[in-house]
Order: sequence, then structure tokens, then C-alpha cells
Amino acid sequence: MKVLDQITLPVSKELEKFEEYFRSVLKTDIGLLDTVVRYLVSRKGKRIRPLLIFLSANLVGEVNERTFIGATMVELLHTATLVHDDVVDEAQERRGILSINAKWNNKIAVLLGDFLLAKGLLIAIENNEFEFLHVLSEAVKLMSEGELLQIQTSREFETDENRYFEIIYSKTASLISACCEIGCLSVTDDKEMRAKLKEFGKLIGLAFQIRDDIFDYIGKTSIIGKPVGNDIREKKITLPLIYALQKVSDKEAKAIVNIVKSNKKRKDVKEVIDFVIENDGIGSAQATAIDFINKAKRILQEFPNNSARESLLRLADYIVEREK
Ligand code: IPE
Ligand code: IPE
Ligand code: MG
Ligand code: MG
Repeated sequence: MKVLDQITLPVSKELEKFEEYFRSVLKTDIGLLDTVVRYLVSRKGKRIRPLLIFLSANLVGEVNERTFIGATMVELLHTATLVHDDVVDEAQERRGILSINAKWNNKIAVLLGDFLLAKGLLIAIENNEFEFLHVLSEAVKLMSEGELLQIQTSREFETDENRYFEIIYSKTASLISACCEIGCLSVTDDKEMRAKLKEFGKLIGLAFQIRDDIFDYIGKTSIIGKPVGNDIREKKITLPLIYALQKVSDKEAKAIVNIVKSNKKRKDVKEVIDFVIENDGIGSAQATAIDFINKAKRILQEFPNNSARESLLRLADYIVEREK
């Protein structure tokens, strides 16, 4: 059995029911939209966020209807941001098939993303889940800010690691943190547990994005299902490169940044990737991701031992060990 399947085991029934719910809310009478939505759901993501919500709920209580509402909202918002992100990044592939912008065009992708986002927000309203709405609106705001700060940073060719952490917190960790918070909120009002789970989610979310940024250097499109080398092409200076740059002279660092600045050709991307590998940017970034995971796991030790905690501990490890 695959690692992720094992981790999923305590909530596999819940995840199956979630799939049905997720698909049912995407029904639409608009023919074109229906075609695009069908294409979109033809490939599932890893469902890490719903998994986190169900496990967080079971850590401190028991999954209920509210947990499903939270999971559906989150996966809709996540999917919306991916569809938009591929427009922003001009990425041609997602989940092993053409991205929406590549298969159709940017217009369709922007509008589909808006539809998914609106659906996610509506579910909260329809079910009077104003607290979920509050938590998730904050996360979505941070995600947009993170994507914009990333564009600003790439224009400035900023290589400061604190800026990088600010970006990945906003664009990725904020939503993963919100997942753990919502799972908790769906079953209890306990403020202390909520705050702890929020912090746990933030730490694993940071590690999750670092691992994703590593894939951009050493991943294989056939496995991760999305392009590699795209970050450099988009002039995004992520942690593996930041760490590699810190290991060489100012002169050499400047020369590499200049390649990123001017790059367009495949040869330039390869040169930057080779530089990062030679200077162990990958190993250093992975070590930082593992640090975050270890901190996160220590927070979980403060919770009672049950099967959900067991799975969350393994999920934390999976996040930095995963190959896709
Ligand atoms: C991709 O998220 C976007 C990032 C935050 C790196 P996932 O890797 O969870 O995407 P899917 O849902 O499994 O495709
Ligand atoms: C994460 O950043 C994007 C979102 C949070 C939407 P990336 O641009 O690295 O994500 P991928 O690699 O395209 O999935
Ligand atoms: Mg992207
Ligand atoms: Mg990426």
C-alpha cells in the first residue's frame, strides 16, 4: 500500500463521501462551463487539504457534517487558486494533463477560477458557516498577496530568505494552516487546540511549499504532473537557489542572478539548475523543510494519542519525503 493510502486509512470513508460532495456542488447548466468542469475533475489532486481537515477534526473530536462543508470549501478554493496560478505562471500542464489555460485559454481559466471561488464561498453562506468564511477569506486574501509579492520579488531579483518565507507563508502555508484550524473548529470551540493546530498547519505548509520548490529543480514532469524549471523561467528565486547563492562569492552569485534575469533559453535554465545542484541548494532546502516538520510534530505531541494523531505525524513526514 502506498504511504499516502496508509495515512488516509482512518478517514478513507470520509474522503470517499467528500469526493461525491465535491463533484455534486460543481454541477452547472452552462454547457461550456460543464465541459471545462468535467475536464477539471477528470484528474484528482492528492487531496492533502481535505485529508488534513478530517484528521484534525478526528484528533480533537469526531468528523461531522460541518467538517465536510469545510473540506469542500477548502478544496474548491484550492482548485480555484491552482487554475489561476497556471495562468499567472503560464504553465501548460497540471496533474499530468494540459492546464485549463493551455487546453482552452486564459479567459476561460480566469472565469472557471472565479466560479470555483464563488462556489466555495457560497457553501459557507448556505450553511451559516461564518467562522469558516472568516478563516478562509483571510487565507485567500493572503494567497493573492503572496502571489503578488512573489511577482514583485521576482522583478526586484530579491534573494533574501526572509522574503521567501513571507511569500510561501502567504501563498501556501496560510491555506494549509486554515485546514487544520477548520478541522478543529468543526468539532470544538476550544481556543487553545485551535491555535496549536493552526501553528502545526503553518509549519507543515511551509515545508510543503519548500518541497514543491525542490521539485521544480529535481522533479520529473512525468511524476509530478506539472512542468519543471518553470520557476526559473518565471524568474522566481526559491529556497534551493537562495541557499546555493549564499555559498558562493558575490561575484559568482551575481553572475547566476544575471542568468536568471536574462534567461529565456533552455540552456540558461539548465545552467541554473546545475549550479543549485553543485552547491547543494537542494540538500540545504530539504534540511530547512525537515526542521519545520520536526517543529510541527512536537506540537502534535501535546495532543492525546489516537489514530488521527498517528496519521498526522506520518503525513508530516510524507510532506517532505513525497515524490509528487
Ligand atoms: C499545489 O498543491 C500548489 C502548491 C501549494 C504547491 P498540491 O500539490 O496540493 O496540488 P494537488 O491538489 O495535489 O494537485
Ligand atoms: C503555489 O506555487 C501556488 C499556489 C499557492 C496557488 P507554485 O506556482 O509553485 O505551485 P505549482 O508548482 O504551480 O503547483
Ligand atoms: Mg505555479
Ligand atoms: Mg511549484
